[in-house]
Amino acid sequence: MRFLITAGPTREMLDPVRFLSNRSTGKMGYALAYAAVVAGHEVRLISGPVSLAAPAAVKVSDVVSAADVLNSVQDNLQWCDVLIMAAAVADWRPASVSAVKLKKSNMSGTLELERTPDILKSVAKYKGGRFFVGFAAETGDPLPEASRKLKEKGLDMIVANDVSQSDAGFAVDTNRVTVLFANGDYDNLPLMSKVEVAKMIVEKIENKMEK
Ligand code: CTP
Repeated sequence: MRFLITAGPTREMLDPVRFLSNRSTGKMGYALAYAAVVAGHEVRLISGPVSLAAPAAVKVSDVVSAADVLNSVQDNLQWCDVLIMAAAVADWRPASVSAVKLKKSNMSGTLELERTPDILKSVAKYKGGRFFVGFAAETGDPLPEASRKLKEKGLDMIVANDVSQSDAGFAVDTNRVTVLFANGDYDNLPLMSKVEVAKMIVEKIENKMEK
């Protein structure tokens, strides 16, 4: 199958030297790219700024902002059978971007923000028979929010985790996730390496696509 995977954070520039971003390091998305390649799939990876190397067989598109992720997902959507949105896409960006470095003397203490596009919602109408997977990184019990996002974004599967735990979520090599499906089924996976989690996610997708 053809897997389109997004990974890492986005950066929303304020001026040439400053941006809004988040703690994502891309480890889960890159682990998914690796697991899908090992399982014999074709993989394209849309990656925000991270310091990771992708397997040689993976075609990587480097992106910076949420708008870039949307463009790249739109460009590659027709190609894929499976879309996995593991990227931590910023929800807000500065309402205006300065072409020159801002000076404190002419900045106010308030930043005006505007919403970024919701990528999964934007491409939902082109889904067809494709399998769409989202991620929900929450603080505290992630299940209620993950279940809401699964429905609102029209997903087939969502991978939920509690990022307030020190051994799961951002910047660590392990993760403890719950996988929820559109039919209401869910599966609590134990603490595992991100590569093991990724292999299980790829297997679950393969099982669902075969049905
Ligand atoms: N996502 C997306 N476009 C965005 C933001 C997020 O497609 N602009 C995707 C993420 O890649 C992830 C899923 O939506 O797969 C859930 O992301 P999350 O940030 O948890 O959800 P939000 O819709 O931003 O919800 P909230 O801010 O209410 O938590």
